[in-house]
Amino acid sequence: MADPRPVGVIGAGLVGSGWALVFARAGYPVRVYDPLPEVRARVLPWARQSLADLQTAGLVGEADAILSRITLCDTVQAAVAGAFYVQESVFETVAAKTEASLAIDAVMDADAVVGSSSSGIPASKFTETCAHRARFLVVHPVNPPHLVPVVELVPAPWTAPDAVDLAADLMRQVEQVPVRLTREIDGFVLNRLQGVLLNEAWALYQDGIASLADIDATIAHGLGLRWAFMGPFETIDLNAPGGIEDYAARLRGLYAGMVRHPAPGPWPDAVIAAATAERRAALPAADLTQRRAWRDGILGRLIAFKKQNRLSG
Ligand SMILES: NC(=O)c1ccc[n+]([C@@H]2O[C@H](COP(=O)([O-])OP(=O)(O)OC[C@H]3O[C@@H](n4cnc5c(N)ncnc54)[C@H](O)[C@@H]3O)[C@@H](O)[C@H]2O)c1
Repeated sequence: MADPRPVGVIGAGLVGSGWALVFARAGYPVRVYDPLPEVRARVLPWARQSLADLQTAGLVGEADAILSRITLCDTVQAAVAGAFYVQESVFETVAAKTEASLAIDAVMDADAVVGSSSSGIPASKFTETCAHRARFLVVHPVNPPHLVPVVELVPAPWTAPDAVDLAADLMRQVEQVPVRLTREIDGFVLNRLQGVLLNEAWALYQDGIASLADIDATIAHGLGLRWAFMGPFETIDLNAPGGIEDYAARLRGLYAGMVRHPAPGPWPDAVIAAATAERRAALPAADLTQRRAWRDGILGRLIAFKKQNRLSG
């Protein structure tokens, strides 16, 4: 890459650190800002450890070269001025997103694009008064973004189409997989899908239909195996001799009306307490961190497998 313009990363917690790694891994100089010095101090040690894990999985070569592209900044301006793309990953509140967006807006290049990692707050709720509001959109990752590549691109009503195009092109270039939404919707696509599954899982558990472990096994050893490389539509296209239309003809009656009555409200406290007791018996709270590292190691190997088999999206 010939002397690329830098990428700015605003907010360097869990997700912002992951983004810094994504852009640096792809060859971009990355300028990282977080208001808390102790958060900034954690970025490089965390990135070094994560790169070691990626090396173990055979996913990156030279760790030192990647680390050398990450610069820590102590002002928003130092991270944003001159950047062609800025990824904002501050707290998930309208107040924090508004404050950060206005601070970025004040110092950004006019042609730069700003993607927010927002998990659910749409960009229209925090960019309306920005002078460059046409350059802002949501670019929602999955944690950790350096291991799970999908990102949802969600434009506000005033986002310029070429800003969405730039974000989509950049995401492909840094080996993420962009998914484009045509407009803002609660939960975007990923959490709409996850929400249906989670609501149903809680309801099945609450009704005593199956144990927590058996519900998890249904995904881990059943549906989830295919879902690591194909979605629900391709799944059903392959699951009837005549493809998706045949599947619909055979089974749409089964699915019609297959919802809980009454529809589940918020997950009840007593059910959450019972599930928590079962999970903590299976995995003590003290072991959660170690288990997350185990998960990330498996994810790395799975990503490597998908790359080797040209399944990377
Ligand atoms: N953690 C996840 O699983 C996940 C997944 C996808 C998206 N997200 C989204 O990413 C964003 C960040 O989440 P996180 O999990 O990294 O949180 P986090 O608490 O780990 O990090 C947030 C960071 O933002 C910094 N910050 C707060 N206000 C700021 C400001 N005005 N300017 C600059 N930095 C500021 C904080 O100091 C903190 O270090 C949220 O919008 C969240 O919803 C999180």
